[in-house]
Amino acid sequence: MRLLALIGVLAIAGALAAGGFFLGGFFDISTSWDDPPPVAKAIARARDASIARHATDRPPADFGSLQRVQAGARVFSTLGCVNCHGAPGVKWQQFAEGMNPSPPDLKEAAADLTPAKVFWVVRHGIRMTGMPAFAGAASEEDLWSLAAFVKKLPDVSDADFKAWTAPPAAPAEAPKQ
Ligand code: HEC
Repeated sequence: MRLLALIGVLAIAGALAAGGFFLGGFFDISTSWDDPPPVAKAIARARDASIARHATDRPPADFGSLQRVQAGARVFSTLGCVNCHGAPGVKWQQFAEGMNPSPPDLKEAAADLTPAKVFWVVRHGIRMTGMPAFAGAASEEDLWSLAAFVKKLPDVSDADFKAWTAPPAAPAEAPKQ
């Protein structure tokens, strides 16, 4: 009985201390410090588990086609992904280095992600990280193209990316008579 009372008192004291710490403004909400490694690890595991459970959509039949990968490159460059993640031959904006967690290099991340996972992350975003949801900014078709492009990233050269995202050439002028 004594032990139970002690546990109760400690629990209440702990809750009050946590309340005072967080509601009293002592927690540093800035991005300028890194989570202690065990905390960072726990957050990453919770994120990966959540993505794995939610990402159940099946990719369209032409998922790996070159047309889709090229279309994905164009969507990638117009939606602003490049600002945070960079792209082949294009560096991310400097502000991305002030984000915590920092946006991963998708070329390296791609191998660990299934098409459905990329699609889900880009569609819904990742809470409390700065990774936005693009469901309102792009159609499902475009989101699958983005996923196809991200999966292909390790094989995309700087020149490919430049060619695939170049503005369409102006119509040739009729030859002068
Ligand atoms: C404002 C910056 C920002 C923009 C814009 C942005 N992202 Fe992200 N993205 C992030 C951050 C930060 C993370 C890391 C989240 C984390 O650590 O859990 C992330 C994570 C991801 C991941 C998951 C990587 C992994 O290993 O789990 C994918 C895939 C991704 N982004 C794709 C995209 C695509 C495609 C676009 C454009 C449609 C885009 N992002 C636009 C900041 C951004």
